[in-house]
Amino acid sequence: MASSSALLLLPLFLSFLSTLSASSSESDLLLTFKSSIDDPTSALSNWSPNSTTHCDWTGITCSNATSLVTSVDLHNLNLSGDISPSICRLPHLSHLNLANNFFNQLIPLQLSQCTALVTLNLSNNLLWGTLPDQIVLLSDLTALDLSRNRIAGQIPLSLGSLASLQVLNLGSNLFSGFLHPPLFRNLTQLVLLDLSQNPSLASELPQEIGSLSKLRSLLLQRSGLYGPIPRSFLGLRELKVLDLSQNNLSGKIPLGFGLASLKLATLDLSQNMLSGSFPTDVCYGKSLIELSLHDNSFTGPIPNIIEKCSRLERFQVQDNSFAGALPSGLWSLPGLKLFRAENNQFSGELPDLVGVSSRLEQVQIDNNSFTGRIPRGLGLVHTMYRFSASLNGFSGNLPENIFDSPVLSIINLSHNSLTGSIPEFSTCRKLVSLSLADNSFTGNIPPSLGHLPVLTYIDISDNSLSGKIPSELQNLKLALFNVSFNQLSGSVPPPLVSGLPASFLQGNPGLCGPGLPNPCNVPPGKRRSNTNRLIWALIVMSIAVGFMVLTAGLYVVYRLSRNKSNPCTWKSVFFYPLRITEEELLMALVEKNAIGEGAFGKVHVVQLPGGEFVAVKRLLNSSNLSFRKVKSEIKILAKARHRNLTKLLGFCYSKGTILLIFEYLRKGSLGDALRRPGFSFEWSLRLKLAIGSAQGLLYLHKDYVSQILHRNMKSNNILIGDDFEPKISDFGFDRVIGETSYKSSVASELGSYCYMPPEYGCSSKKPTEEMDVYSFGVVLLELITGRPAEQPEARETLDVVKLVRRKVNMTNGAPQILDPKISGTAQRDMLEVLELALRCTAILPEKRPSIIEVVRSLQSLEPIIYPPMCSGELLPSGQQ
Ligand SMILES: *[C@@H]1O[C@H](CO)[C@@H](O)[C@H](O)[C@H]1NC(C)=O
Ligand SMILES: *[C@@H]1O[C@H](CO)[C@@H](O)[C@H](O)[C@H]1NC(C)=O
Ligand SMILES: *[C@@H]1O[C@H](CO)[C@@H](O)[C@H](O)[C@H]1NC(C)=O
Ligand SMILES: *[C@@H]1O[C@H](CO)[C@@H](O)[C@H](O)[C@H]1NC(C)=O
Ligand SMILES: *[C@@H]1O[C@H](CO)[C@@H](O)[C@H](O)[C@H]1NC(C)=O
Ligand SMILES: *[C@@H]1O[C@H](CO)[C@@H](O)[C@H](O)[C@H]1NC(C)=O
Ligand SMILES: *[C@@H]1O[C@H](CO)[C@@H](O)[C@H](O)[C@H]1NC(C)=O
Ligand SMILES: *[C@@H]1O[C@H](CO)[C@@H](O)[C@H](O)[C@H]1NC(C)=O
Ligand SMILES: *[C@@H]1O[C@H](CO)[C@@H](O)[C@H](O)[C@H]1NC(C)=O
Repeated sequence: MASSSALLLLPLFLSFLSTLSASSSESDLLLTFKSSIDDPTSALSNWSPNSTTHCDWTGITCSNATSLVTSVDLHNLNLSGDISPSICRLPHLSHLNLANNFFNQLIPLQLSQCTALVTLNLSNNLLWGTLPDQIVLLSDLTALDLSRNRIAGQIPLSLGSLASLQVLNLGSNLFSGFLHPPLFRNLTQLVLLDLSQNPSLASELPQEIGSLSKLRSLLLQRSGLYGPIPRSFLGLRELKVLDLSQNNLSGKIPLGFGLASLKLATLDLSQNMLSGSFPTDVCYGKSLIELSLHDNSFTGPIPNIIEKCSRLERFQVQDNSFAGALPSGLWSLPGLKLFRAENNQFSGELPDLVGVSSRLEQVQIDNNSFTGRIPRGLGLVHTMYRFSASLNGFSGNLPENIFDSPVLSIINLSHNSLTGSIPEFSTCRKLVSLSLADNSFTGNIPPSLGHLPVLTYIDISDNSLSGKIPSELQNLKLALFNVSFNQLSGSVPPPLVSGLPASFLQGNPGLCGPGLPNPCNVPPGKRRSNTNRLIWALIVMSIAVGFMVLTAGLYVVYRLSRNKSNPCTWKSVFFYPLRITEEELLMALVEKNAIGEGAFGKVHVVQLPGGEFVAVKRLLNSSNLSFRKVKSEIKILAKARHRNLTKLLGFCYSKGTILLIFEYLRKGSLGDALRRPGFSFEWSLRLKLAIGSAQGLLYLHKDYVSQILHRNMKSNNILIGDDFEPKISDFGFDRVIGETSYKSSVASELGSYCYMPPEYGCSSKKPTEEMDVYSFGVVLLELITGRPAEQPEARETLDVVKLVRRKVNMTNGAPQILDPKISGTAQRDMLEVLELALRCTAILPEKRPSIIEVVRSLQSLEPIIYPPMCSGELLPSGQQ
């Protein structure tokens, strides 16, 4: 009896044993998996042999019945190291999520042994290499997410046999080549297909995709597609989101597409080469929320049927050749927030918008042929943030309430035919930018403008405004104030003239004030101040010699020098009111004012009559570039305005020499600081200098419209401003003096070659952004090591990049490089910057990070967020 019942129990007992051993070995497997992982935040600290059951460990889920691991979810834990295949020995593992970590390796081939997997998520790591064919072994997969890695090569055809896939996301990788049609034939269960942001793909849109009838999201933006949109897309009846933007698609939208895709909420076909007319049936399903057709070649009118799109929130048709009047019902769609139709040939009048309940936030209709009045009800739309209607034929008065929206930030009505006076401003406390230039406004500048706290940009030039410039405007922190070509008169509030980067007052003969042709309260020929006397002396002199004094702009003075011993002709252009003549300036360029000598010549500090100092740099114009050419290039440099760039205030030109006048920063340069014995800036300060200079460089490379390459980035050209805000100087000098002179000047400077990338020597190489990034990397090394890179006395051992690399390669050499004067707590950050600096100074230019990446990496180490500056950057750049 007893033995038989024992026998009966045996299988049970055995299965219990096997569960026991399975679970103990499951925890071993997990520990093996953990052992190859770097876990900087100790997120896996409870994965430990002595803790009771591994089913309670972070990220582990076991099945209730068998206590076997079914899911390992370790997303977002900052893990790195190796993904060990040991995890595939967990027989029931069906979900593996390692997304949002830092795994930097090939896609582990062995993961194909995890044959029970149903979902695999490796999104947002640093995986590289190709997608292995072995992926087909995971035949039960319903979701595969490899997005946001650096996986390259063809998308393997074998992927096409994972017939259970519902989600396939390969977006934001480096896949290349053609999309083979058979790939999609068996993927009939797909609900989401995302191949977006793989710009190296080069393919037509396979018509097979149109047969994936369960698709709800199809995201193929910026993935190298060309050719037509296949008619088979009419089969995508479940589609809610279709994004084909930023490709090279051409032809027309297939007829009937809107009728077929009744559930479509987002249709983005922008930035292609599509043509034809507006898809009339796109609103048929009434589900459309976002419609983007911008940057294509569409023609014809927008049909009235658009009024049926009752849920439409975002309507973007800008940069096409649409024409005709806009359906007036479009304006009163209840949910519409974004309305962009600029750069088309639309005409007709806008509805009055009185009595409509509108949620419009942003309207941009610039550069069309609209006529009639500005809508009377515009100010009643209290959500309006931007209204921009420049370059049209609008006429009549502005409605009194136009500025009433409490969130109004940007208004641009320039280049129209508007008349009457500018209404007062009362409720729009958020106004940043006001452009009313080139209209026929009359009356005074409303003093209430001066009470708008964040107003930064005022352009009311080219109107018929009269009266005084209200003294209230002194309160504003303006980046631009253009009132040129009006009939303003009276004295200009002094802070408006002196504190402004680009104050344009020209074309108002009645204005007077210091620095202006008319001094106030002083009848010509009587009492004169020093500066005035000089200006008058000049004029009298010139007339006496018989030359016209041309004042093309207020601060532009063309003049012949009277210096007989130096028959050189000097011409000057000042971008700021410097109130100094070039003669006085030239006289001040004497030895006692010299503060240094750079590659291009001496640098002097000159005190202006007003007491301020400027730095004057002398460049040899050995290529004898013409004044006109030099002026247009320098203007480009002067217009580059950013808080991390030194301001170029003006220049003087003669045949052989160009004098550049810069703001003077008395703290000197980072190079000066580094060379001072006992240089001991704390780490946060060094980081601030690094971030600021990188931002300056970013602005030059990416944000400024005619890109400027710095070409001479080094610590000597990073000046230290107030509050240790760095300002880059000496950028783009090649433009001013021409390539040949530039190269020979740079070559003459010993020591600075340590900032030059290895490819610099190759004469065929055009200057590139990557070269600037290299030089910046050297500056980072200087900040990390606390030592200047330029050490002319020790030319042999100079190459700081090689030196650092050699030390880093020695085992554990990295910490030895760090400036010992900085306390240990900053070491981790310093090592990160070291790594960044090494990437910046990679031998191969294409291995260097972009300046955007450099700024981001540095900012991620920043301990505090600095408040945004009040400058041109404040202008929101619109919807992307
Ligand atoms: C497990 O062991 C480690 C050392 O191996 C110890 O630090 C930890 O406190 C132990 N945990 C428990 C729950 O006993
Ligand atoms: C497992 O058990 C937990 C709690 O008892 C329960 O919430 C969960 O739904 C169960 N899971 C399965 C798959 O039965
Ligand atoms: C992961 O690292 C980032 C910075 O790299 C940090 O902001 C974040 O808090 C970290 N996450 C965890 C879970 O520690
Ligand atoms: C993968 O994980 C990330 C991060 O948790 C998540 O955003 C994404 O939706 C997941 N992918 C899938 C297909 O579930
Ligand atoms: C699709 O399925 C068919 C039938 O099962 C098979 O013969 C074919 O090889 C599969 N296609 C791909 C690309 O795997
Ligand atoms: C699109 O076409 C243009 C010229 O036809 C070409 O220069 C560009 O590289 C193409 N872009 C893509 C993403 O294929
Ligand atoms: C105005 O639109 C036309 C096309 O309609 C375009 O060629 C032109 O460049 C635009 N002008 C401005 C100033 O954007
Ligand atoms: C206003 O519109 C004009 C013409 O389109 C444009 O040149 C100018 O940059 C715009 N101003 C602002 C501040 O956007
Ligand atoms: C100021 O307005 C005048 C006339 O409209 C124009 O020529 C000039 O370029 C403007 N200056 C700036 C800095 O916008």
